[in-house]
Amino acid sequence: MAAKGVGEETSTGLTPGSLRELIEKSDHVLRSTVKTIGGKIWAYPSPGLYPGAWNWDTPQIAEGLFHSDKETAIRLLEDFLTMQWENGMIPHIVFPQLTPGERLQKDVYFPPPSIWYITDDHIQDYAQVPAAAYENHPAYKATGGRTTGITQYPIWAISLKNMYDYEQQQHTSHPEMALQLTPERLAGLVEKLNKSHQWFHEHRDPLNLGIVAEFHPWMGCDNAPCYDRAMARIAAGTTPEELALIKTQRTDLKAIKARNGDSSERPTDLDYAAYIKIAHRLARVTEKEMKGEAVTIDDIPFAVYSPMLTGMLIRAERDLAALAQAAGRKDIAEEARKRADRMSKSMVGHLWDNRAGQFCYLDAKGMEKEPVKFIGTCFPLLDETLPPAIRTAVKKRLQADYITDFGIASASKDNPERVPGKPGYDPCRYWRGPIWDNVTRLLRPFTTDPGSLRDGALKRALDNGCREYSNPETGAGLGGHDFGWTAGAVRADAEARLHELEAQTPALQRQTHASIHQPGGIKPDIIKKSRDSTGFFLE
Ligand code: GLC
Repeated sequence: MAAKGVGEETSTGLTPGSLRELIEKSDHVLRSTVKTIGGKIWAYPSPGLYPGAWNWDTPQIAEGLFHSDKETAIRLLEDFLTMQWENGMIPHIVFPQLTPGERLQKDVYFPPPSIWYITDDHIQDYAQVPAAAYENHPAYKATGGRTTGITQYPIWAISLKNMYDYEQQQHTSHPEMALQLTPERLAGLVEKLNKSHQWFHEHRDPLNLGIVAEFHPWMGCDNAPCYDRAMARIAAGTTPEELALIKTQRTDLKAIKARNGDSSERPTDLDYAAYIKIAHRLARVTEKEMKGEAVTIDDIPFAVYSPMLTGMLIRAERDLAALAQAAGRKDIAEEARKRADRMSKSMVGHLWDNRAGQFCYLDAKGMEKEPVKFIGTCFPLLDETLPPAIRTAVKKRLQADYITDFGIASASKDNPERVPGKPGYDPCRYWRGPIWDNVTRLLRPFTTDPGSLRDGALKRALDNGCREYSNPETGAGLGGHDFGWTAGAVRADAEARLHELEAQTPALQRQTHASIHQPGGIKPDIIKKSRDSTGFFLE
């Protein structure tokens, strides 16, 4: 997209004024996600939608917040990592409001964390299940039952590297500014992230292929079509009684109804039944691991080697290496680089399909390689050492299959049905078509027109607010409102876009530099306003 002249609007109608408005609004949303509980700072994905702090949402929220409040942003990372499991796993949800051993109140959120510690296979009424069913699980004892039992995508080092680069850039123009991501503070985070990366290699490669597998769809893309066949296998034995039990407990549908949303955007009851069954069987896996017993592929209910997870972990390893270097931890830098290089070769060896011209998901339970048309297959682009011919082919697929007038769709319109009754594409249903702005932000550098994608996302945020996800055909906002990671992406992009417009107007540049780019971020009065109106920092 050609840049416009001084003070003009962009072709999507963005002006310096509207960008400032977006900065203010996204700051407000970001602050409204932040809560102080038990002396620690947590970010909930969106106020009122999910009652807990989520793994990969947290660094993406922190990244946006870092532009206006560095200390809170760093604390979000540090505090979440206090719940890292002993073996290195960063849990996918932390329920900081629970004291150890306390149950999640019925109707607050389904499913409660107990599902990750119950080793019996059947779906139950979790409000009634006796504590004896889970309290002896070693992981329950270790965490007090305040976390789930899986992890999410390893975006931590990627977001932290963006935060680090941002501060370093500011420091170049304001050398008097004190750095908040000091080498000591960085080193603390780097050590924990290194441990979590090691955990992926040790616990998520059941066939020793040198790449990593997803053990549960709640890794981050819940109902994506790449899991359809593996999920169908698990869902097969679900009884009508189990489905009825699921239906009465699902709080997500109640929440969406209360907001006049459409339940057809959500995963189905049968999906939920399979999610819970996998969780129970994984409870047996973690129990065995913690007792030092060997785990075989037969113990693991669901294991899908994933180009999304592997591609992201490769990039995260390289970002971790750079951060470790900056923190004076050359040993970790070296280890992370080696892991990335090894994984990069194995990813091409095991997941690339030359005939299909794309990366595939590989079901470890049947060794079936699937050229599904899901956006996760483009994530190997995050690996900068991808062989050039493969890189070119993946970029072509990204462009041809996923770019719409409004952003990057999560599934392609041409994705064939993989199991009966589940269309391969649905523009409204979560990870089966909608645009997710955090994904767009990660992948747009590999498209032919990243500027348009960025402007398009900003325009949607201006029109619809920071929605959880959007319809790829109409641009309409879907899912939760005031969504944290969308606000994080908007915050960073709006500032960068404003910068570009300012660069064409020296007077404007002076004015906004004084407000937005001052060390410490945006105007103090905006911070005050948001704190007052959102209860930020209140329990
Ligand atoms: C949904 C998303 C997941 C995200 C969570 C909280 O489950 O699929 O990726 O982390 O919501 O926002």
